[in-house]
Amino acid sequence: GFRLFMKAIIPAAGLGTRFLPGTKCTPKEMLPVLDKPVIQYVVEEALDPEEVDGVIIVPSPGKPELLSYFQPDRSLENLLRERGKAEYAVANAGNMPVDFRYQYEPKGLGHAIRSAADAVAGENFLVLLGDYVVPNRDICNKMLSVSAEHGGASVIAVAACAPDEVSRYGVIASDRVGSLEGCEDVADAEPGAVWRIGGLVEKPAPEAAPSNLYIVGRYLLSPLVMDLLADQQAGKGGEIQLTDAMARSLDREAMYAVVTPARLLVGWRQMPLWRQPTLALPMLSGTLSTSAEA
Ligand code: G1P
Repeated sequence: GFRLFMKAIIPAAGLGTRFLPGTKCTPKEMLPVLDKPVIQYVVEEALDPEEVDGVIIVPSPGKPELLSYFQPDRSLENLLRERGKAEYAVANAGNMPVDFRYQYEPKGLGHAIRSAADAVAGENFLVLLGDYVVPNRDICNKMLSVSAEHGGASVIAVAACAPDEVSRYGVIASDRVGSLEGCEDVADAEPGAVWRIGGLVEKPAPEAAPSNLYIVGRYLLSPLVMDLLADQQAGKGGEIQLTDAMARSLDREAMYAVVTPARLLVGWRQMPLWRQPTLALPMLSGTLSTSAEA
């Protein structure tokens, strides 16, 4: 049901295979992008909506660095203050409302989310996948407003991709039902369009894909999805898939999708390694701008 406060879950148990050898010693979430670790961007985005009162990060037991990063370090703060260097934002990372739940076995995204079930306590919750740093931080707010219009229903962010790229993602089948405020004239697959989801499939073959609208990694989910994850069987890749539990929830609850601008979502996981640094830079200039696009 709808309540003013909710948690945001950030899964962070992945092995970081695409970033080896760097991730041999440093979790990929701790790799710096410009002036701070990538996880800090995602936590700040998660805490942006006023409905969110806390973040639950779900690391594997092999990533204690994530816990130390969000722990206050009073002696370092004091030392910096004494030396007139208080402007270093050490306290910032130590004072955020961040809690942790371990994912003890690498059984997939759905299993990671389920590992945080007790922290969510029967409320709607957000999920933010850390592989994407989203330059403008208002996607979750837009999902929350669509949810409020539809009685607290689940809402996910989607974007259009090339038809041959669907097999990398969860893909939706759905019907256009409306628009975000101010986006009444947008075409069906353009940012601001709102769809009601009729089906969801994880990593379909291009010829089996119901659309080219893919799940970008921002979810607002109902307690039913969390309940269904408890007995979700392994799916694609032998992993417990969040997409599969969401698909099961469709028999009992409506779910909506809001189209977001694909070009603002840089999923460097899919990029060839040699292109990643160059692609990170234009993405971050977007982070620093204040443009309010749909
Ligand atoms: C996960 C989800 C998939 C989504 C993707 C976005 O897949 O299962 O539905 O489209 O994230 O990045 P993964 O790439 O973790 O296998």
